[in-house]
Amino acid sequence: MSTITVDKVNTIKTLNNIAESGLRIFNKEQYTIDNDSENPDAIVVRSANMHSIKFNNELKAIARAGAGVNNIPVDQCTETGIVVFNTPGANANAVKELVLTSLIAASRNLFEGVAWAKTLEAEGEKIPKLVEEGKKNFVGKEIRGKTLGVIGLGAIGALVANDALDLDMDVIGFDPFISVDTAWNLSRNVHRAMSIEELFAKSDYITVHVPLTADTKGMFNEETFKIMKDDVYILNFSRGGLVNEKDIAVALESGKVGKYITDFPNEDVVKMKNAVPIPHLGASTEESEENCAVMAARQLKEFLETGNIKNS
Ligand code: MLT
Repeated sequence: MSTITVDKVNTIKTLNNIAESGLRIFNKEQYTIDNDSENPDAIVVRSANMHSIKFNNELKAIARAGAGVNNIPVDQCTETGIVVFNTPGANANAVKELVLTSLIAASRNLFEGVAWAKTLEAEGEKIPKLVEEGKKNFVGKEIRGKTLGVIGLGAIGALVANDALDLDMDVIGFDPFISVDTAWNLSRNVHRAMSIEELFAKSDYITVHVPLTADTKGMFNEETFKIMKDDVYILNFSRGGLVNEKDIAVALESGKVGKYITDFPNEDVVKMKNAVPIPHLGASTEESEENCAVMAARQLKEFLETGNIKNS
């Protein structure tokens, strides 16, 4: 029987519930070769950093229960014949829902308004007075008719684009891995596919849904901020490294970027008043964790039994 090590209790429960999985599954807070006498055939991992881990010789595959594979040494795995899977699309709905929630909440100053209300110590009749004050302090803006630029039209980007249209936004798109024409034809959801410079220039809101690679690293930087509209809102639910941390802090300070909603808080950004740091909650729903675990289990089962590699 094949053995799998996983780093998440929820994932274990889900894997165990898959009656047909036929895999022997056990818990490891973090996999280490030194204390691991079981020498698993495969590992399912969500967030644990696998870069510093020495893998056992029997290891055949690693499945990342999520989209990004930055916590796995993919090149080293490829060289040593360890197959790396991810679970594309399995958490797309969870991320889409949080992107759109944050977009509206940020536009209505909801994060600031709620935080302010929570700090009020007043009671009884003082509350109505403070509510009056809040109404004036946190006047927001509506998203209807505003232009949303979606960078990356894959599983998550396409869902965001689709639902933003239903919210009466004007949706434009760019995808770094497919041509403008292909993007246009593929996505009925995007009014207009265009170059990234055009998208930067036209968007009131920009949401980014691409992996972190050498090409996309720091794509939001001092130079690209210059092309953007003043007071643009940027949403980053992909990877922190897509945005140059120092440059975004400067752009937030000057008001060039009106708000930065990020699922990847860092020191420079957290202290900025107009940043909305979210503790990596994009994919954190019960449904998404289950979807990812199921997809990972199916991929590994098929691979370990038949040698077929199906990354879906
Ligand atoms: C992903 O890459 O899909 C996300 O980082 C998901 C997660 O939070 O695990």
